[in-house]
Amino acid sequence: MKNYSREEKLKGKKIGFVPTMGALHQGHLSLIRKAREECDRVVVSIFVNPTQFGPGEDFDRYPRDLESDVRLCEREGVDVVFAPSVEEMYPENFSTWVEVKGNLTETLEGAHRPGHFRGVTTVLTKLFNIVIPDCSYFGEKDYQQALVVKKLVDDLNIPVEIVLAPTIREIDGLACSSRNRYLSKEERRAAKVLYQSLLRAKTEIQDGEDNPSCIISSMEDLILEEPLAKIDYIAIVDPVSLKPVKRIRGEVLVAVAVKIGKTRLIDNMRIKSVF
Ligand code: PAJ
Repeated sequence: MKNYSREEKLKGKKIGFVPTMGALHQGHLSLIRKAREECDRVVVSIFVNPTQFGPGEDFDRYPRDLESDVRLCEREGVDVVFAPSVEEMYPENFSTWVEVKGNLTETLEGAHRPGHFRGVTTVLTKLFNIVIPDCSYFGEKDYQQALVVKKLVDDLNIPVEIVLAPTIREIDGLACSSRNRYLSKEERRAAKVLYQSLLRAKTEIQDGEDNPSCIISSMEDLILEEPLAKIDYIAIVDPVSLKPVKRIRGEVLVAVAVKIGKTRLIDNMRIKSVF
């Protein structure tokens, strides 16, 4: 992988990189297409990274379908699929960790999935060193992850530009996710409540409601109408610091994590207030 990148760079080619955990869907494909548009070479990594899963999470049952992922990548004109094994990425004596500290990694997902972002930033540091991309593409679906990655490359002077792309959704608004594959038919129907709750927040904010607690409780009411849903968190935060806002002014990030049956789903929306 490194040799390929070094050679292409010597030829003056710009390398775009889309890191993924596979089970590719339209969200991933939108990142690949953006990279294809903006770069000369496109590298996609497929690696279900064990270090970003907590004990009791879904690492073992995470969907893996390398053959069909590679076919999709071929169809999109991807130049290289980099799919290392766990043993190659984490040999027995592996002992170095890269961690972004502070509120960015301690709040929201960080608070509910201890160690998650440490796994993400460690594997991405490795992947950036191996792929040596000019640009790397991330989805707003995982908005907090994108902020953490930006902080990582900024703080450590990693020479890669982080590019963000919008969340791709199914027809009913459910954000595309590899984890949607876990949902039964009933659960799939229930899962649209995440997006509906974000839309409710948007309507209320645009109607001039500026008290976050009122919006959060109205979102709770909507989600609780769905018996298969269990709220992990609902938060209204500053989109730069991810700190909770006391009054809604300018732009805010509304973020939700909800369990539908055993499947934990996240979604978010950036919303501009009228104030
Ligand atoms: P994964 O969940 O496979 O996501 C890979 C990339 O696709 C991430 O940047 C994610 O934000 C983006 N993505 C997922 N669903 C999307 C959607 N509906 N619309 C737009 N983009 C979407 O995120 C990871 O993998 C891992 O944490 C990784 C960064 C690969 C590190 O292991």
